[in-house]
Amino acid sequence: MKTDIFSLQTYVQKNQANIIVLADEHTMNYCYPLLLEEVPYFNVPYGEGYKNLDSCEFIWKKLAEFGATRETILLCLGGGVICDMGAFAAGCFQRGIRSVLVPTSLLAMVDASVGGKNGVNFMGYKNYIGSFNEAEEIFICDIFLETLSYKEKVNGYVEMLKHGLIADRSHYDQVKMLFLQENQHLENQLILDSIAIKKNHVDQDFRDQGIRKRLNFGHTIGHAIESFSLKINDENESLSHGVSVALGMIVEGYISTEMAGLSKDELHEITIVLQRVVSGISDDIPTYDDLKPYLLKDKKNTDLGINCSLITSIGQGVHDQYVEASLIKDGLEFLANLK
Ligand code: GLY
Repeated sequence: MKTDIFSLQTYVQKNQANIIVLADEHTMNYCYPLLLEEVPYFNVPYGEGYKNLDSCEFIWKKLAEFGATRETILLCLGGGVICDMGAFAAGCFQRGIRSVLVPTSLLAMVDASVGGKNGVNFMGYKNYIGSFNEAEEIFICDIFLETLSYKEKVNGYVEMLKHGLIADRSHYDQVKMLFLQENQHLENQLILDSIAIKKNHVDQDFRDQGIRKRLNFGHTIGHAIESFSLKINDENESLSHGVSVALGMIVEGYISTEMAGLSKDELHEITIVLQRVVSGISDDIPTYDDLKPYLLKDKKNTDLGINCSLITSIGQGVHDQYVEASLIKDGLEFLANLK
């Protein structure tokens, strides 16, 4: 992993004969010029609604039109959708060409860029088709964050808070200050600390069989809320990943007090912080029946039931917790009562 724009520019200059850039309309306008070289590029439309196999087919057709070969490097310049989908499409094209990830959102920097998970949504289920396949290189350049609004950064802050909640109380405390007060300066080091927590889990368990699952704290419920919201709203009005996961962390925080020994005081602390996003949403909190189809399709599930990753305290995660439907209903009610 490289952490400055000059390394990226040098890499592009050295490999310009092989690079094709995948971007979206935003990153094409604001980020592509920073590469400084005129490398071939193409765009897919912006947004989670385009993270699907149709877009992959479009990417494969474009790569074929550009005459891509096994020497080609697909440089994915964008947020989580571009990084996840681009890496997946590259991994399939001609049985696999190289991909380089250049995340341009805070969320993609602290999550999608690290760990080799890639893929697309399928039949309304999040990241249902994909693979484990590490990118050849990852560039974390905080210069791309200069054009992001606080609202867009919230998506990343939520994942960073999650990293603190599952593994490092002091990281949680530091990110909390940024999350709660707009216009605070985000230090690059804090981004790197967050990535280090994720990387530590991935290095121990690349295939997501054990400790890596802790990174999914808040995501069993969060992904279900996000998928349900995408189904009932226009894409522009659906809940973002960060907001959905924040709601998921409140519900799974509640479940953690009932199943994993999280104290009521710590649940209160987490709830007060995450409530900042709850107050901003106009949707009703979905019911268990709304979420059931998505919860039953969660990739962590086994025959034992709905598998959540929980926390035993702030800074300590636990995985493979099988949760009764009645407890999920109670958790959703707890969340609904906060509104
Ligand atoms: N986003 C969770 C993981 O990479 O395992």
